[in-house]
Amino acid sequence: MAQPRELWKSRIGLVLATAGNAVGLGNFLRFPVQCAENGGGAFMVPYFICLLLFGIPLMWVEWAMGRHGGRHGHGTTPGMFHRLWNNRISKYLGTFGILISFGVGVYYVYIMSWTLGYTFFSLNGTLMKISSPEEMGLFLSSYQGLKSSVFFDGIGTAYWFYLISLGLTIYVLSKGVVRGLERLAKYGMPILFLFSIVLIVRIFTLGTPDPAIPENSIATGLGFLWNPDFSSLSSPKVWLAAAGQVFFTLSVGFGAIQTYASYIKKNDDIALNGLTTASTNSFVEVILGGSIAIPIAVAFFGIAGTQAVAQGGAFNLGFQAMPMIFQKIPFGQVFGTVWFFLLFVAALTSAVAIVQPFMAFIQDEFQCSRKKATVFTGAALFIFCQPVIFFLGNGFLDEMDFWLGTFGVTVFAVVEIIVFIWLFGPNSAWKEITRGADIKVPRFFYYVLTYLTPVFLFVLLGTWLYQSGWDNILLKKASAENLPYVIGVRAMLVLMLLGLIIGVKHSFAHHRLKSRETSS
Ligand code: TRP
Ligand code: TRP
Repeated sequence: MAQPRELWKSRIGLVLATAGNAVGLGNFLRFPVQCAENGGGAFMVPYFICLLLFGIPLMWVEWAMGRHGGRHGHGTTPGMFHRLWNNRISKYLGTFGILISFGVGVYYVYIMSWTLGYTFFSLNGTLMKISSPEEMGLFLSSYQGLKSSVFFDGIGTAYWFYLISLGLTIYVLSKGVVRGLERLAKYGMPILFLFSIVLIVRIFTLGTPDPAIPENSIATGLGFLWNPDFSSLSSPKVWLAAAGQVFFTLSVGFGAIQTYASYIKKNDDIALNGLTTASTNSFVEVILGGSIAIPIAVAFFGIAGTQAVAQGGAFNLGFQAMPMIFQKIPFGQVFGTVWFFLLFVAALTSAVAIVQPFMAFIQDEFQCSRKKATVFTGAALFIFCQPVIFFLGNGFLDEMDFWLGTFGVTVFAVVEIIVFIWLFGPNSAWKEITRGADIKVPRFFYYVLTYLTPVFLFVLLGTWLYQSGWDNILLKKASAENLPYVIGVRAMLVLMLLGLIIGVKHSFAHHRLKSRETSS
């Protein structure tokens, strides 16, 4: 028999851990890029509307579902769905909650390892010596094994940093909920806050770096973000980007919040905890994340220059533009190290949360010890990440991100809402959300959850399929040389899904036998 399910030890630990879950690379890397690409203040308007219309509501749904499932010994969505909707297929629908979080975890750990590598290259001064943006680009692409250069002639260095990152993630998971997840958050989150404040103070005191171009200043950068532009409300592209960012940054739609929520007691608050998670995350994203990369990039490159960097790729702003800027400011080597280490800490507290559902599934449903679960999880992460590492240039990571992080989360969010609100019943759902609540959830949200959120998500999904999703699914966007890899990703995902389905079938058959034994 496995160890009994753990519970969070303290409220502050729980709050820090769930904040650490949500706050990650999305807040410091993805948000600034999305924001710059979609017009700054023009992005912020749909962003906040999405937060209200489905971000916070889904947060509550996932917390409530998680606490409910945890009470019945289930930390993942197959068992949770089964409890909420007594139907043969509910547990299989739930496998997507493990597939998505685990699949994203596979590449998230790899991206995290780049931030660790770059922390090291900042600390030892390597990044300070690279003289042009082109060289900085070459440094990144050769680090990733896409080309060889004077800096790196293969994937070796990146591979070592990956092994260290994977090892750390697995180490934390092996310690369990209280001594692993909760403890990491208790150290990690204060460091994260402190380091972002240090960076922001440095950035805000820069003013106008080049007196000859007074319009390129920190103030311009902040204005770019904070002057709302309502014209974007009619742009589907901006809406889709904002919605995608809200999913990613809040970690909703992945099936991962449920796992963290499954470790709280039956009558402990979830309404305030859910809201605190969402608002802490948005605070870190908009106030802290928004005050670092965008203002400093605008001060040095101007608004148009910053937008051009952002359009160049998801990682250009963080990994190429930022190191160039740190070269130009006093003590840049120190601040550069602070920047990349901040990213790494943010990523680590998210990485453990992305992988925990898979761990919990093995522990809860197979009565497996934590030690065995850790070994199995580590091995699975390692194996599935190999093609991500070696076929990065063939679009392997992007295709995975498309299926899981874009398509998967939206569909799964719709499924969750249907299962929790419609099949479990709006009144039961509402009771489940508000039981033990430390705040009064406005009744308004009952209607939002029951009608507005599902309709909004359907419209979102439809628009997205029409705009670009469908062409992606039908392989109309893949280039001929990437085609085999893109198909490879799909095959791999189907394989993972099959594995989970078999696992669910097996473990549930086992449960039935067991309950028969005890009842006879
Ligand atoms: N929210 C995390 C970030 O901003 C990333 C993330 C997405 C995540 N889904 C998750 C983290 C699930 C933990 C669990 O980087
Ligand atoms: N194509 C992805 C995106 O821009 C890449 C990505 C995945 C990413 N995870 C990330 C970018 C975390 C920044 C941070 O959404």
